[in-house]
Amino acid sequence: MNMRFPDGFLWGGAVAANQCEGAYNEDGKGLSTQDVAPHGIKGPITKEPTSDNMKLIGIDFYHRYKDDIKLFAEMGFKVFRTSIAWSRIFPGGDEKEPNEKGLQFYDDLFDELLKYGIEPLVTISHYETPLHLSVKYDGWVNRDMISFYERYVRTIFNRYGSKVKYWLTFNEINSVLHEPFMSGGIYTDKSQLKKQDLYQAIHHELVASALATKIGHEMMPDSKIGCMILSMPMYALTSDPDDVIAAMKADHMNTFFGDVHVRGEYPGYMKRYFKENDIQIQMADGDEALLKNHTVDFVSFSYYMSACEAADRLKAQAGEGNLMGGVTNPYLKQSEWGWAIDPQGIRYVLNQFYDRWQKPLFIVENGLGAVDELITEPDGTKTVLDDYRINYLRDHLIQVREAIEDGVPVMGYTSWGCIDLVSASTAQLKKRYGFIYVDRNDDGTGTLNRYKKKSFEWYKNVIGTNGENL
Ligand code: BG6
Repeated sequence: MNMRFPDGFLWGGAVAANQCEGAYNEDGKGLSTQDVAPHGIKGPITKEPTSDNMKLIGIDFYHRYKDDIKLFAEMGFKVFRTSIAWSRIFPGGDEKEPNEKGLQFYDDLFDELLKYGIEPLVTISHYETPLHLSVKYDGWVNRDMISFYERYVRTIFNRYGSKVKYWLTFNEINSVLHEPFMSGGIYTDKSQLKKQDLYQAIHHELVASALATKIGHEMMPDSKIGCMILSMPMYALTSDPDDVIAAMKADHMNTFFGDVHVRGEYPGYMKRYFKENDIQIQMADGDEALLKNHTVDFVSFSYYMSACEAADRLKAQAGEGNLMGGVTNPYLKQSEWGWAIDPQGIRYVLNQFYDRWQKPLFIVENGLGAVDELITEPDGTKTVLDDYRINYLRDHLIQVREAIEDGVPVMGYTSWGCIDLVSASTAQLKKRYGFIYVDRNDDGTGTLNRYKKKSFEWYKNVIGTNGENL
């Protein structure tokens, strides 16, 4: 099979502001929810930022982005996905005027990318809500969030509209179901959060996403605006129809977000779910029309693993996931963090999403979090021999190619954490994804120097041959 990818395929890498920038209180930035979450999703939040929070310094991308982008350019990146830290632009979130220094930072960052011909792909909200909006308003539970988000969106579209064409409204929007604080800035503890409030918060986010799409199309007619979904295909654990239906229902909980973004209305199975769970979504005048008339241009998604679902979960072994678990698939091996490795799952998702939505798809996260060992070669060069990462990425890209052969329009591929960064779920730096090693350890030691891993040359070659040399 010809391994070349379509002409113009957008190869690149992805990060998120809160996981790499650091500089958590510089140049007028306000606190974000991440600044008080030193354990990721694995532990309690704190009242104030604490020195054990790896994200406060991150990988110091805020000060080193020029050198890092130079390395991305050396690999031949066509696109680089990052997010804007909302609290750099509106420190508390509910101010009327933005913070100029925060705006300037992203101007400089995007200019640096464009200097090398790298297209920015920007996530508007990636797991960081201004902390003030979380504490005072309970995040997206409160409808006022829509107007704060709108002001933020208008500000960044106005400022960067001539530099940024590709936008994503919310990172992994469906993850709010599992991590309401990290994903939706919802301050109420998830054990106390009522389903009614959770789904109302989701409705507000969906309306805000449609509004951003509307405003984006008005202000930047050439822009492409997408939603972003955490994909984790649910296989039935057995061919028992009860398991098949259990898997279908689990899948619905995620596909529903895409259905609203693409079809512009709540699907029947969600209306049924709301009814059966006594959930009444409060709709304001105009919400339904907004959702219907301002659907996305493309669907983007992250893919790390698949999972299984069983009607009787007690009979099955619980699975690990970044945010959602499912049950363990006995046919698959797992990463060091217990994530099932399933390259064919990405082909399955691409086909499933395209069959369902008939929209161009963009893989904006995929990769292997692993422990890396920095070694010194005989010539004194420091590197990491990360063949395991190369194998993981190659196996997945082969399946992406299969999906393209199946007829799925894939816009591009940005591997997650193209430079090592702090993990979202565990807040560790030890869980590394990059082609570039960053010398920083979870005890805070390290020089922050960057070193090319073996996968750096491999990915450069993949991009250089447009996928032919996987
Ligand atoms: C996705 C997120 O859930 O997975 C990223 O969008 C995250 O922010 C990535 O970093 C990998 O997960 P983790 O927990 O290994 O960092």
